[in-house]
Amino acid sequence: MTLLTPATPPATALQPTRARTATPRRFLMCPPVHFDVVYAINPWMDVTVPVDAGHAVVQWQALKAAYESRGHIVDVISPVPGLPDMVYAANGGIVVGGKALAARFTHPERQPEGTAYESWLNASGPARGVTSLGQAAERNEGEGDLLWDGEVMLAGTGFRTTRAAHAEVAARLDVEVVTLELVDPRFYHLDTALAVLSPAGTRSDGGTRAEIAFFPEAFTPESQAVLRERYPDAIEATEEDAVVLGLNAVSDGRHVFLSDRATGMHASLRGRGFEPVGIDLSELLKGGGSVKCCTLELRPAPSPTVPQSAKEARA
Ligand code: ARG
Repeated sequence: MTLLTPATPPATALQPTRARTATPRRFLMCPPVHFDVVYAINPWMDVTVPVDAGHAVVQWQALKAAYESRGHIVDVISPVPGLPDMVYAANGGIVVGGKALAARFTHPERQPEGTAYESWLNASGPARGVTSLGQAAERNEGEGDLLWDGEVMLAGTGFRTTRAAHAEVAARLDVEVVTLELVDPRFYHLDTALAVLSPAGTRSDGGTRAEIAFFPEAFTPESQAVLRERYPDAIEATEEDAVVLGLNAVSDGRHVFLSDRATGMHASLRGRGFEPVGIDLSELLKGGGSVKCCTLELRPAPSPTVPQSAKEARA
């Protein structure tokens, strides 16, 4: 009789998922103390549905605590009475490489928010390694439509931010812009239809491009093709996950903060080795926003790289 030695599984089989590393982030958030739905500028908003601002604050605090308990720093901007959408801080501007451009909103109801965020960036930016370039000249809804993938700026248009704004962002922030056209009014901002999961150059599997998730039907066929070509391994979300704003997510490279209702996305993320962190923001969904909408990332200028010889000299 031949005794069979159990085969040793290859090393990769021992690790069903690749190791993911979180990098600490700095976010700006605005408490929803004045949150309400008193006008309707997207299909999620129904002025006849009552809103509980107190409950919105409690849910928002849980999101803030979820970030802080994982090592992220959260700055808070003072909410302004009469600006019920100011809680959606992502729309306040875009901050990349230590340069900040404040938003210029489409709808008159939100326009004063641009000034409020600009003032905060002017006053509080420098201490955080951020230089304010003032307010955008073109119609620009900040990180609602501008998602930095670590290499290029993914830029949405069709409902809010204009192509002229994309050109302005390219020139003033000195970045390459990839324009993507949105077609479904439920997904009126890019960050309702696409999430950057790990920025370019941070992957542990040797890949160099960013990893993203997106809902294809929110985009024109041409933009879907651009996304599939650029990110062949993207997670393509289902409509079920998209309609609970499951793509409105924030990732630190390991933890992905997103709606607790987007259960399909949670499973896909786990399958890729990410840790989904489910957040209940049911009140803020009444305004058409979720996790990412409430979060503006402040990206400081990269610290000067220490030449290898200097590192060796110190060691
Ligand atoms: N009620 C707000 C609007 O329609 C929601 C903004 C959500 N923010 C976002 N980043 N998608 O403008």
